[in-house]
Amino acid sequence: MPTTSNLVGKRAVLGVTGSIACYKAVDIASKLTQLGVEVDVILTRAATQFVTPLTFQSVTGRRAYRDEDLWGDEGHVLHIGIAKAANLLIVAPATANTLAKLANGIADNLLSLTAVANTAPLLVAPAMDGGMYEHPATQDNLAKLEAQGAHIVGPASGHLASGLKGVGRMEEPALLVGWARYWLGRGGPLQGRRLVVSAGGTQEAIDPVRVIANRSSGKQGYAIAQTALDLGADVTLVSGPTALAAPVGAEVVQVTSADEMLAAVLAAAKGADALIMAAAVADFKPAQASGQKIKRAKGAPTIELSANPDILQAVAAMKGRPAVLVGFAAESQDLLANAAKKLKDKDLDLLVANDISAKDAGFEVDTNRVVILARDGSQAELPLMSKAEVAAALLERVDKLLESK
Ligand code: C5P
Repeated sequence: MPTTSNLVGKRAVLGVTGSIACYKAVDIASKLTQLGVEVDVILTRAATQFVTPLTFQSVTGRRAYRDEDLWGDEGHVLHIGIAKAANLLIVAPATANTLAKLANGIADNLLSLTAVANTAPLLVAPAMDGGMYEHPATQDNLAKLEAQGAHIVGPASGHLASGLKGVGRMEEPALLVGWARYWLGRGGPLQGRRLVVSAGGTQEAIDPVRVIANRSSGKQGYAIAQTALDLGADVTLVSGPTALAAPVGAEVVQVTSADEMLAAVLAAAKGADALIMAAAVADFKPAQASGQKIKRAKGAPTIELSANPDILQAVAAMKGRPAVLVGFAAESQDLLANAAKKLKDKDLDLLVANDISAKDAGFEVDTNRVVILARDGSQAELPLMSKAEVAAALLERVDKLLESK
């Protein structure tokens, strides 16, 4: 199963209008294409002053359109064809002029015609120079578009092409691609399902400076959260400290310690369909964290440890527990025997076991090699794959279990 199977073959129209942020739109087209999305680019006349259709064709592998094409071979129905096939219309960058057209149904070029014919969600990323964004007409048009159901992302504030500083910069491509994924994913197989995913390691305070931590990067949990969003789920991500960017569209709850993670997971799991505990929760914490930094001069301290609560067991025991509980087991020996015991002890539906002694699997790397054990005793040994692919394989099983309940 490809990593983002629900996005593969989806169609997005990317409308590009006359702003210097056009060059960033190339990145959006490229990233969406890499996810398997078919991107039809439409440039306005002003956009072609900054970039050419060839620029986009080179990254999408598909024809990019400009106004002249409206009167080309396909005749006057080109815009209808493009709009009908679209699962999402993105206008990025959107100038004040194009915003005005979109808000008021003006259809005087290929992009604005397509927008009027479009019934898919509309994602708009305004980009304009200082003052233009604040103009009452622009503000009215944005409010109007929002009232019509459009999703406006940005603009951000910062350096503007004119040298001014202020609000008007197009939002970063990564954020726009995140929202595009989110809207393309709606209506997917996990639509209407609420999933809670935990990710990353926890940190247990020794004193105000030092912690007991572990090597979990959070990559596997974040990949599960992102793939669940791609598949249409509503996702709450309970995350320990990581360097990763939050998946766009997820509700993210940041925690530090196992106790905090327990509270956050219990709260989020109420009414959820599934809990996937990918986090590496510390089993032990210092029994008493020192209020002051421990002084080296006093010699090496002895730190007494106490057990952390088992979050999965607490959720398994709660009233109205999620229909599907998934645990992870990182083992360095006797992988399958330990994993099967964990599945039973924690009363889980699925358990993802990985051998952390392998260099290409487990902590910090982008790939994983796992065995998925199920309550019915079945075991699926998956080959080495990306963490996104592991996420897709796991969520396919979660989906099947939810369907069967
Ligand atoms: O027992 P062990 O820590 O190996 O179990 C790993 C699984 O249990 C993971 O899914 C982890 O998120 C979860 N866990 C938990 N609470 C703990 C420790 C681990 O829910 N205190």
